[in-house]
Amino acid sequence: MAHNLLSGHRGIIFGALNEQSIAWSVAEHCAAEGAQLILTNTPAAIRFGQVKQLAEKTGAIVIAADATNEEDLEMLFTEAQQKLGGKIDFVLHSVAMSQNIRKGKVYQEADYQYFHQTLDISAISFHKMLKTAYRLNALSEYASVVALSFIAAQRAFDGYNDMADAKALLESIARNFGLVYGRKHHVRINTLSQSPTRTTAGTSVSGFDSFFELADKKSPLGNATAEDCADMCVILFSDYTRHLTMQNIYHDGGYSSIGE
Ligand SMILES: NC(=O)c1ccc[n+]([C@@H]2O[C@H](COP(=O)([O-])OP(=O)(O)OC[C@H]3O[C@@H](n4cnc5c(N)ncnc54)[C@H](O)[C@@H]3O)[C@@H](O)[C@H]2O)c1
Repeated sequence: MAHNLLSGHRGIIFGALNEQSIAWSVAEHCAAEGAQLILTNTPAAIRFGQVKQLAEKTGAIVIAADATNEEDLEMLFTEAQQKLGGKIDFVLHSVAMSQNIRKGKVYQEADYQYFHQTLDISAISFHKMLKTAYRLNALSEYASVVALSFIAAQRAFDGYNDMADAKALLESIARNFGLVYGRKHHVRINTLSQSPTRTTAGTSVSGFDSFFELADKKSPLGNATAEDCADMCVILFSDYTRHLTMQNIYHDGGYSSIGE
């Protein structure tokens, strides 16, 4: 049921790794709505993941970039504009990684090198991306930028570890850059706080399955899927949300408002 909501829109999607990735569904839905896309991920993720298959399916162009590397980001935004033929209308930041989670280091025993890396990949990369786009004047008037977050930015969840701190920083960057970029180019910047979703990053969190089930049971509408998230991103990237900015939007079937 596509409605051509993104016809003529040029977008960059960070973070599609495999079919389970939320960014994968977002790319599919944006393409179905008429968008022209650049898919980006680390060189290793492009080599070992399924990004090229997604590019074939969606008619997208793949450009490798490490989201923590400002030179890569400059190359990405420059090439993306050349290849798509103009300024960028929307960007999805769907990037996260924690070695503390991966290596089973609990919060109270954090390895600080890993902690820095978690913040750099999962949050500061969002600042770097926005700073690069701003410096290059790469985003169109009323462009829309969305980063994916999780309710652990506001509440404590066992097992979510240093990623909770990264999400709090991510949401703060969205607000603060939203102020700067809104005044200058009317660029909208929001975070979307998504339900637990079975993906590579999601399932690496210890206790994910029980939390997934609990959230699904507590939410009046049940957990939102990656497909639901993709529909929400289409709306946020579209021209129907031109005055929505600096918000953290819960997309969680009502879970965040439940008091029990
Ligand atoms: N899965 C969930 O339950 C859930 C819930 C809420 C929010 N989120 C958020 O959604 C986003 C996407 O995660 P996902 O669940 O789809 O998992 P995923 O593992 O499919 O996606 C994470 C992506 O980050 C990429 N990445 C890691 N380091 C990078 C770097 N240095 N440069 C560029 N890309 C890099 C990975 O290659 C991967 O494509 C993340 O921000 C995650 O925190 C996930």
